[in-house]
Order: sequence, then structure tokens, then C-alpha cells
Amino acid sequence: MLPQEIVRLKRDGGTLNPDHIQLFVNGITDGGVTEGQVAALAMAIFFRGLSIDERVALTLAMRDSGDVLDWSDIEAPIVDKHSTGGVGDNVSLMLAPALAVCGAAVPMISGRGLGHTGGTLDKLESIPGYTAKPDNTLFRKVVKEVGCAIIGQTANLAPADKRFYGIRDVTATVESIDLITASILSKKLAAGLETLVLDVKWGTGAFMGSYEEAKALAESLVLVANGAGLKTTALLTDMNESLASAAGNAVEVQNAVDFLKGTHIDNRLWDVTVAIGGEALATAGLAANPEEGRANMSRAFESGEAAEVFGRMVTALGGPADFMDKPEVYLPKAPLEVPVYAPEAGIVTKVDARTVGVAVVELGGGRTAPEDEVDPAVGIINIAGVGTTVDSDNPIGIIHAQNEDQVRRAQDVLLSAYTVGEASEIAEFDTVRDRIAK
Ligand code: URA
Repeated sequence: MLPQEIVRLKRDGGTLNPDHIQLFVNGITDGGVTEGQVAALAMAIFFRGLSIDERVALTLAMRDSGDVLDWSDIEAPIVDKHSTGGVGDNVSLMLAPALAVCGAAVPMISGRGLGHTGGTLDKLESIPGYTAKPDNTLFRKVVKEVGCAIIGQTANLAPADKRFYGIRDVTATVESIDLITASILSKKLAAGLETLVLDVKWGTGAFMGSYEEAKALAESLVLVANGAGLKTTALLTDMNESLASAAGNAVEVQNAVDFLKGTHIDNRLWDVTVAIGGEALATAGLAANPEEGRANMSRAFESGEAAEVFGRMVTALGGPADFMDKPEVYLPKAPLEVPVYAPEAGIVTKVDARTVGVAVVELGGGRTAPEDEVDPAVGIINIAGVGTTVDSDNPIGIIHAQNEDQVRRAQDVLLSAYTVGEASEIAEFDTVRDRIAK
């Protein structure tokens, strides 16, 4: 069948069978279908949608467009999580080592930040010597010997998605739950996972702003992942304010080290990390149920074992051997640290988390285009959460910047993210609001 006939079928509201989808995805991978045809199919899907079976077929075809990692030489369950992205979301840094302590093998392939959201890879690259792109031998060795390795994509995973996403990005067709589902899951399936937990965020700092949209995405992801043979559950978590009290790169690594060592733990971050871990352990059969999984996660943190595993992972991937003892010596630090005060004293009633992320981008800690470099040293710490008192002694955050100009710009943006008033004006949201299982 010609590519244009496949486009026509979907344009007219028809159903694509697995052969149509395979043929088209082959063409995306080998260049046999043109950019115009890919864009046209994306737009047809945007308006007409895909059934769950069509989404499964698209996911599997894109998974098979490149390498599929094989972990059969490792006995432990192969586990990972995926977050739809947020601000101050450094969960992966604590989650991966704690899951390893609890018996999972965690080959975590992470991405870079784009727009207002941070990326795990950018954060880890602020550790001197850390090899975010190890060769396959080192990646496998670290997963085997340490239990987890957080790295960037090295193998040729789901190249069809790479081309498809690039075209969607410039044709206003990213915001399709059906296409997002296949895009995310094709990469996770290509990583050779056995179980997956999705952290689907909703709120002012999330990709899906409304709870209803986030829930629809979570349901689609869970149905399609399980349909494609990957045991998956999802949690819907609140992204109406920064998750950690730090947002940036080195500052979020420092926050993660403090969490792992138990010297400073942000409550909401703890709740999300332990909840995701509990789900992951139960799904992988390493705990009888999520509740037991959460208890195991808590023990992995409280015993200091997760901190020890994180330190071993950093060293195995080229970072300093004594990183956990003195992270402040190794992490880059910006020369200016400037507290930002609210114009009037009161209680933080609302935060536009997206705007907090934009303030980090203003500082150079995030990207506006994929090829941008990020500055690992800049960011914001002591970020005031909803319900916190802010006044002339208690800032809404402390900006880490390279120069005064950055401070001025980031300060204006940060202030605009905050609404200060009275406690009665606060809308309360559960940090973990819902769980979606098949
Ligand atoms: N992230 C992805 O990997 N793919 C999408 O389509 C959207 C977000």
C-alpha cells in the first residue's frame, strides 16, 4: 500500500491494521516516506485518533525500528520508571539506587531537559567525571555490579520515533495522547524493561496541565504498555509547585545527596519517590503489594544503603570515589547567591511551577532549543512551597547565578510565579492523587 493511501485511510477515520503501521514506520526509519507524508499522518492521527490496538501496533513497530536491549543475563527483574517531566523533579536520583537495594536491576535511560522542565542527564553531568554516555560494556557492567546505572541514550533506540517526534515538533502534532503514548513506550520497550512505573504529572508545571488530561494520558500509557507486554502501572502526581526545594542541575544533585544521606528531605519529594518505588517493587514481584514496597523503600533510605549504592554508581561511571562524603567540593557553584523576597509578607497560596522552571532557564540552567548548553552551577534553592510563610526574613527562594543581570531577570520571573495571601486561600492537592492499573 502506498504511504498516501495509509494517510488517506486515517484521514477518513478508518482503522489501520498492524501491516499498514509497520509499512509506514519502515518508511519513517529508512526515509521511504517523505516528511510531508509523516506530517500528514501525524495530523490525521491528531484529529482521528488511534484505537488501543493501533497504538500498540505503532509502539511495537517503533520499538523494532532500532536496537532492543537484552538483559537476559541478569537474574533480577529489569525495572524503570518514566516521568512526564516537571520542575525540581530529581526523583530518579534517589529512586534508582533504592530500587537496586530492594533487588531490582535498573538500567535507567534518561533524557535532557527542554523548556521549563529539567532533565536527569543534565543534573548528573554536573558531577565531574560522570560518564553519562558510557559504552554498552560499561553500562551493562554497572547495572550488573551496582544494580543501577542512570545514563543517556547510547544505543540506537527507536530511531523511527526520533524522526517522527522531530516532525511532530514542528507541525503542531505533539499534543496527541495517542502519539505521545507510542512515542514514550517505544523507547521504554526498546530499553528491554520487564516492568515500568509511570509518574504522570498534572498541574501548573506539568506537560499535561489539567488533571483530566493527565489521567487520560496515564490510562492510555498503562493500557498500551500492558498490551505491548510491558507490566506497567501509573501514579498521577501533583506538579503544582516544585517537587524538590531546589531547581537546577548541581543544586538538585546536592538536594538528592542530602535526601539520600537523610540530612534534608523534602516531604513531597519523599512521598512521590517512596510511592513510585513501592509500585515498582510490587509490579516486579519484589514486594507483595505497593504498601510493602513502600516500606522496603523507606528502609533502603533509612539504612543508608541507597546512599551507598548511589555513591558506587557515581564512581563506577567515572565520578569521584568520595563524592558522597563531600559533594559540595565537587559540584560547581555559581558565584552569586541572592535571596528573593516577596513584596508583602504572607503565606504562599499558589505557585506557577512552570514559571519557576522558566526562571531556571533565564539563569541558563535549562534549554530553549535541544542544542543549547546548560550551565550546571545555576539554579534556585530553598524554594518556598505552598503554605510556607514568606516575609523579610524568609525568602521565596535563593537564586544561584553567574551575574547580576541573570539575577534581575530570574528574580522578576520567580516573583511572578508566586501568589501570597492567607492560609484559607490555599487549594489542597494530594501529592499522589491516583493510581492507574490495567
Ligand atoms: N515525550 C516523548 O518522549 N514523546 C512525546 O511525544 C512527548 C513527550
